[in-house]
Amino acid sequence: MFITFEGPDGSGKSTVIKSVYEKLLKDNFDVLLTREPGGTPIAEKIRDIILDNSNTALDPRTEALLYAASRRQHLVEKIWPALKEGKIVLCDRFIDSSLAYQGGGRNLGVENVLNINLFATENTYPDISLFFDVSPEIGLSRVNSDKKRVADRLDNENENFHDKVYETFKKIVANNKNRFIVIDASKPLNEVIENTYQILKKKLNELR
Ligand code: TMP
Repeated sequence: MFITFEGPDGSGKSTVIKSVYEKLLKDNFDVLLTREPGGTPIAEKIRDIILDNSNTALDPRTEALLYAASRRQHLVEKIWPALKEGKIVLCDRFIDSSLAYQGGGRNLGVENVLNINLFATENTYPDISLFFDVSPEIGLSRVNSDKKRVADRLDNENENFHDKVYETFKKIVANNKNRFIVIDASKPLNEVIENTYQILKKKLNELR
């Protein structure tokens, strides 16, 4: 079972995924927690290049290819082996982030970005994707008011970029209703965590 957590910056999904992972471990589910871009040493090195604020010359297509490259490495080294062992993989972001950020935000086109990603992933899709739905206004105000968070190259993009990312996410969700579950991420964090945990626990118990 391959489950991805998707959403705009400031949706809280990274905090939610960690908490839900710990709860599912306590329930004796065989879960693995990982994230993109990154998840393996090579993929984390690619992440550092992509998110480095000093890389102002990074071309949008190069950026899209780097995300796809890090995804490929992550699949080969970590996700595919874990799925083969029968684990439940919880992944913070995956292909839909590339479609929304590079396809929509960077105007590369969802189709183009999908094509390079299908090459990278050999058509691997998540079984379930959770979309943490929060408007770019609320998301970015959370990012900006979080003193512990150092804004990366993508966080620092302008509002228009984040609006396009959000609109593209909404379209992807609407076109993939069978795979997506929408979580209202504008609610207080503890409610979002509990809601997500209950939804996933129910799904996983049905499969046990
Ligand atoms: P994070 O904040 O969830 O760790 O993700 C890092 C940034 O990378 C975030 O702004 C979203 C962006 N991103 C893309 O633009 N494309 C992708 O394919 C992925 C996985 C992340």
